[in-house]
Amino acid sequence: MSKPRLEGKVALITGAASGIGEETARLFAENGASVVVADVQDELGHRVVESIGTDRASYLHCDVRDEKQVEEAVSYTVNKYGTLDVMFSNAGILGPLGGIQELDLTALDNLMAINVRGAAATIKHAARAMVARNIRGSIICTTSVASLVGGSGPCPYTMSKHALLGLVRSACSELGVYGIRVNSVSPFGVATPLSMNPFHMAASEVEESISAVANLKGVVLKTKHIADAALFLASDESAYISGHNLVVDGGVTVNINVAAPNK
Ligand SMILES: NC(=O)c1ccc[n+]([C@@H]2O[C@H](COP(=O)([O-])OP(=O)(O)OC[C@H]3O[C@@H](n4cnc5c(N)ncnc54)[C@H](O)[C@@H]3O)[C@@H](O)[C@H]2O)c1
Repeated sequence: MSKPRLEGKVALITGAASGIGEETARLFAENGASVVVADVQDELGHRVVESIGTDRASYLHCDVRDEKQVEEAVSYTVNKYGTLDVMFSNAGILGPLGGIQELDLTALDNLMAINVRGAAATIKHAARAMVARNIRGSIICTTSVASLVGGSGPCPYTMSKHALLGLVRSACSELGVYGIRVNSVSPFGVATPLSMNPFHMAASEVEESISAVANLKGVVLKTKHIADAALFLASDESAYISGHNLVVDGGVTVNINVAAPNK
C-alpha cells in the first residue's frame, strides 16, 4: 500500500468549517495529516472536527480580520502538534454584490479585511513560525478565477482576489530562500454557502448555472476537485512548485468561447 500523501504533516486551515475548507480538512486528515480547523462558525467547526475525529483534528475560533487571533492559531497549532507544515489560507467571503457604480466602501473594507488583509496576516505568521523552526513548509491560498479575469464575479470580490494573487506571488519570491513554497488554487464557481446564500440558490441551481457557462462539459465542479488540488500543493509531489496559481476551472479562463467552428 502506498504511503499517505501527508503522513506526519500538520496543517492549519482557515475557513475550514464549511465548503472548500471543510472538504480539504477531511481530505488532508484522510491522507495522514493532523488538521487544525480554524473559522468563525464555532458550532459548524466543532462538528467538522467531531466527524473527522478528535485524534486527527481540532477546532479553534479564528477571525482572520484580527491579527492576534491569527497569530494565536499558528501558535496553537505548533504547540499542540509540534510543527506547521501546511498553511491553507482559505477563509473568504463574496462581499458586496453589484458593480463599481454601486460600490459600498464600508462593505469593501470588510471584504478586503478578510480576503486580503486576513490572508496577509495568515501568511505572515505561518511564515514566521516556519522560518523560526527551519520548516520547508507549503503555504496555499484560495484565490479564484476572479484573480485572473474581470467579470466572473462582483467587482469588489475580483479586486480582492487579484490582490490576493499578488500577495501569493510576492510571498513566494520572499520565502523561497527558506525553502517555503507559496501557491494558490483558483476555483471556478462551486456550490458552497458562499455561492448559494447571496443568491438564495440551492446547490443544484448553482451547479446548473455554472455548468451552463462551463468550458468543460460532462463534469460538475465539486469542492472535492479543489481539495484534490490543495492536497497536491500541500504534498511533496509538488516539491518544486512555487508561485503557481493552480486553476481548477475546466479551461474556462483560457477560452472566450466565441466563434468556435465546432460549436
Ligand atoms: N464557492 C465558490 O464558487 C468559490 C470560487 C472561487 C473561490 N472561492 C473561495 O474559496 C474560499 C472558501 O469559500 P467557500 O466557497 O468554501 O465558501 P464557504 O462560505 O463555504 O466557506 C468560507 C468559510 O470562511 C469562513 N470565514 C468567513 N469570514 C471569516 C473570517 N473573518 N475569519 C475566519 N473565517 C472566516 C466562513 O465562516 C466559512 O466557513 C474563499 O476564499 C472563496 O473566496 C470560492
